[in-house]
Amino acid sequence: MSLEITIEKAKVSRISEFDPQNIGFGKLFTDHMFLCDYRDGEWQNARIVPYGNLSMSPATSSIHYGQSIFEGMKAYASLENDHDITTFRPMENAKRLNRSAHRMAMPSFPEEDFMNALETLLNLDRQWVPRIEGGALYIRPYMFATDDYIGVKPSDTYTFAIFCCPVGPYYNKALRVKVEKEYSRAAPGGVGFTKCSGNYASALHPTREAQKEGYDQILWTDPIEHKWVEETGTTNFFAVINNSIVTPSLTGTMLAGITRDSVITGLKHLGYTVDERPLSVDELIEEQQKGNLKELFITGTAATLMNLEGFGRDGEYYDVLTNGDTHISSEIKDFLDNMKLKKSEDPFGWVHTI
Ligand SMILES: Cc1ncc(COP(=O)(O)O)c(C=O)c1O
Repeated sequence: MSLEITIEKAKVSRISEFDPQNIGFGKLFTDHMFLCDYRDGEWQNARIVPYGNLSMSPATSSIHYGQSIFEGMKAYASLENDHDITTFRPMENAKRLNRSAHRMAMPSFPEEDFMNALETLLNLDRQWVPRIEGGALYIRPYMFATDDYIGVKPSDTYTFAIFCCPVGPYYNKALRVKVEKEYSRAAPGGVGFTKCSGNYASALHPTREAQKEGYDQILWTDPIEHKWVEETGTTNFFAVINNSIVTPSLTGTMLAGITRDSVITGLKHLGYTVDERPLSVDELIEEQQKGNLKELFITGTAATLMNLEGFGRDGEYYDVLTNGDTHISSEIKDFLDNMKLKKSEDPFGWVHTI
């Protein structure tokens, strides 16, 4: 049986604080949030309440032992249609949240309840979805352990929550990425395939070091040889080598991006072939030097689809964009963007209208 959601509406909306021409990313939150508690082995007290602070014990176990996972999704508003808002493959986020939960010894949150919570919340806060080119409502579903208990064991209690914030572009320019050879993001058998908070915390120091060297982001390599490309800190990775489109095959150390999957499926639909295979940094360098590396692009919900300017390894920088091309990345970006905004057909049934 699905959870019943109680709704307490905000007395005063904060929508007047929202300037669609000056959005930023992740700074202003919508009027409401969804909360649900896991107690005595079941989810209960599903509720939508005004967005606000949570109160918790200093011993809250997620702070100490890291049982904390999240998702990232977006809702879009068409510039042409006044009412509808859309989400894109939301069920995939519900499923990935539960894959993360399983690995982190946390309870799964039923997919049907995830969808119901999402729809109810978006319905209430639909006026917050920006109607400007490139804008979206970023949606953050997450779950964390709430036992006030010091000791390493899975918590008995959890909170699942969703809040939203209007956002503009995550990155404003083509990125320069550093091929990381010293630090590793994840190890075989570890938690790299999950969206657990610790994966992002452990990337902060290496990313800051790369930024001091003039890069925007890290291009993670495999943790054993630092030879094989994996993903960036926030996205998956694609290369166009001559006419062939290559993306690193999924290993247990990478996040299986929903955008990655949509790009692969979309490109195939548009008549391209996509090779999911191991891709070494040496191959990228060799092809760049022969003039065969035409496009590099990254994919993710927050970042959308962005070209990379180039990559650096061992103090050498390899520019790809300056003499490169962007026609494949532009074609697939437009294909997916138009689908999300209902400007074009949705051959896969990916767009969920609310
Ligand atoms: C490490 C990492 N890789 C890849 C992605 C792209 O995943 P998705 O396309 O599902 O947003 C993300 C974003 O969530 C990420 O954080």
